[in-house]
Amino acid sequence: MTNMFEIYPFIVQSAIAGVADKKFCQQMLDLGAGMVTMGGFPADKLNYKASLKMEERGRTEYIPPTNENDFSEWFKQNLILNKRCKCQRIAINLRIVTVDQFTEKWLKFLDGKVDFLELNAHCRQKEVLSIGAGERLLNNLNKLNELLTSISKPLQQTKLGIKIRGCSVGDRHTLIEILEKQQVNYIHIDSMMKGENVADIQLLKAYCNSTNIPIIGNNSVRCIEDVKKMLKVGAIAVSVARPLIRHPNFMAELIQQLEG
Ligand SMILES: Cc1cc2nc3c(=O)[nH]c(=O)nc-3n(C[C@H](O)[C@H](O)[C@H](O)COP(=O)(O)O)c2cc1C
Repeated sequence: MTNMFEIYPFIVQSAIAGVADKKFCQQMLDLGAGMVTMGGFPADKLNYKASLKMEERGRTEYIPPTNENDFSEWFKQNLILNKRCKCQRIAINLRIVTVDQFTEKWLKFLDGKVDFLELNAHCRQKEVLSIGAGERLLNNLNKLNELLTSISKPLQQTKLGIKIRGCSVGDRHTLIEILEKQQVNYIHIDSMMKGENVADIQLLKAYCNSTNIPIIGNNSVRCIEDVKKMLKVGAIAVSVARPLIRHPNFMAELIQQLEG
């Protein structure tokens, strides 16, 4: 059985910059993930520079080459995955704040090669916030609206999703209106309770009740009961990140328990 979003099983590997590379995401597909999210990657010049700064202070980042020829080779070597089943989905999480030549290169290469491009409106690393990217986009909705228009224009086949941090949104109603108007295909919501290491299920429920856009629930999923709670309030799938870094097989365990 698939849901309207057509991914099955309903367990998603969430983006993990510096970890979710080709090898990691292929392992997740092999373990049966309904969807994997590669990256995040910087996909404009400002974010590229921000990633270099983050690397300087010791954060692991994946930074693609900027040269056109090196980029296409890098893309082939690093971003092509094999699905085990045609219901599996592949997304790439991108940090973009301005569509420049670097972004156009990304969009050109990605279109038709992956199922979803996921705009990162979630990151809160200081270098990313300082350029108005990541979760800053959630409180600059005119900018977000323009950005979504520019990103979707060249995309013919690959669909657009967005990753947000639910508790950082100032005006949920307007955000949803924009995402609906832009025909965003899914909203991936980090539902963390502000300042705490638990998911805010009521917040997730409020999002699910306010739109028909498919919602992927995220944050602090550590057992099958956590998955069920998110599905019960209306999420069409549930994602996991941190537990998979040390224990990749957690993906297979959750799927087995969900189906069992
Ligand atoms: C090291 C690390 C890197 C991350 N990188 C990204 C990223 O590039 N893009 C993104 O949207 N989320 C990123 N996240 C956030 C996760 O996708 C997820 O939303 C968050 O960790 C909460 O889910 P969890 O409790 O299952 O870990 C990252 C998380 C970690 C721990």
